[in-house]
Amino acid sequence: MIASLFLGAIWFILPAYVANAVPPLEGSIKWIRRYNAPLDFGKSWKGKPILGPGKTWMGLFLGLFFGSLVGFLQGFFPFEPQGFWMLGFILSLGALLGDMGASFFKRRLGIKPGGKVILLDQLDFVVGAFLLAGLGGWFNWRYFVILLVVTPPIHLVTNVLGHKLNLKSRPW
Ligand code: CTP
Ligand code: MG
Repeated sequence: MIASLFLGAIWFILPAYVANAVPPLEGSIKWIRRYNAPLDFGKSWKGKPILGPGKTWMGLFLGLFFGSLVGFLQGFFPFEPQGFWMLGFILSLGALLGDMGASFFKRRLGIKPGGKVILLDQLDFVVGAFLLAGLGGWFNWRYFVILLVVTPPIHLVTNVLGHKLNLKSRPW
């Protein structure tokens, strides 16, 4: 029962996890870095960066693309929720918007780009994904609660691993 709920929750959120994991990887690919630009085009608001250099166009597009691709591929498996490739796109977009919202909030508080805020950094994309999925009528409370609990430790392990494998510049 618990195990199937856990697996169901991970299966449900997978596109958002991928959408959130892909952008940090592109920093290690040189040609992508060359053609990239910050989402806020380096602009500030009241003396503070709007989002900061950690939110980029390539990150947004690649996150959306790979997250949606995962959702599309999930449609070929006989598990719930079924078929709807749209859900993969919505979860990915929600994840990326949630992450941008957190950066906007961090900058307003004067936290430097890349600065750590425990729990916000790990959960911004989950909340964003559920908010947007909720607008489409896909909100699942049980999955939401489970993912709020299990995402921070999963995030920690995958980030330390990504950092050790030289895929990611910071271990958080
Ligand atoms: N990233 C990106 N585009 C995005 C999101 C993330 O290019 N839309 C890349 C950036 O290289 C960023 C890295 O992923 O530095 C890590 O993402 P994140 O931790 O969300 O950003 P931070 O750099 O920590 O910045 P912030 O303080 O704004 O969260
Ligand atoms: Mg960060």
